[in-house]
Amino acid sequence: MKIRITVLCENLIGRLVGVGEHGFSAFIETEGGNYLLDTGAGRSILENSLDMNKDLRTLKKIFLSHGHNDHTGGLPHVLKLRGRVDTHAHPLLFTDRVSLSKEKGMEVRRFAGIIYKRTYLEFLGAEFILNSDFTEVDKGMFLTGEVPRKTAFEKPDPRLFREIEGKLTPDLLPDDQSLILDTEKGLVLILGCAHSGIINIMHHVIQKMNKDNFYAVLGGTHLDFLTPEQLEQSIASLKKLNIAKIGVSHCTGMRAASRLQHEFGERYYYGYVGSVLEV
Ligand SMILES: [Fe+2]
Ligand SMILES: [Fe+2]
Repeated sequence: MKIRITVLCENLIGRLVGVGEHGFSAFIETEGGNYLLDTGAGRSILENSLDMNKDLRTLKKIFLSHGHNDHTGGLPHVLKLRGRVDTHAHPLLFTDRVSLSKEKGMEVRRFAGIIYKRTYLEFLGAEFILNSDFTEVDKGMFLTGEVPRKTAFEKPDPRLFREIEGKLTPDLLPDDQSLILDTEKGLVLILGCAHSGIINIMHHVIQKMNKDNFYAVLGGTHLDFLTPEQLEQSIASLKKLNIAKIGVSHCTGMRAASRLQHEFGERYYYGYVGSVLEV
């Protein structure tokens, strides 16, 4: 085993450790050091890191997949333990965001952006490295940067908006990016929320890495809001790709997760809190 990826924050628990919350975070242990992709919403990362014996003080770098508060809310907790640390994200990380949904016939408006000021996070130790391009962030480790939106069926989530000078405009989440590990067994792709569309992301990775064998794809796939037709198009496209393991979490939703389990069989697992992928 050279790499171990543990889901630290996730909506569901699957073992007798940790607590669930709407959010995502993955702790990545490699021979070159430990890394964190996302920080959950803030209620579970400390408790879960202690339960799973993952020392947040050892982090070499933090990566943020996008600015939503269910991925960035735990950042101050991590920084208070770690202190100064490179924190990679897209320049639009600090965008004000809103989600609108209908609940019991009523429109419910929630703030969905990062809830902390940049200066506060820097005071706690974040050394922000903001970049929108595909980048090698450490040896054999890459951030996708912005992902071109090419498929017709992966549409933006209609519930998500940006708030600019008091006006709401649809949020296309250009800051959404994923982490790639180039391993001996193949590519390991860790998604935050996959707002760019899982198929768009995988095609982008194939083009940038010039490789198409995915040892594992894990994380939030954001398939839960798709119409049944769109979901089937995403699944049909996924099945054409070379994927050895698919471990979905968070915004995948139970409907899409059960469809993926049906289609991928032994190659599928659910990435609940505490699930581990060894490479
Ligand atoms: Fe999310
Ligand atoms: Fe998100």
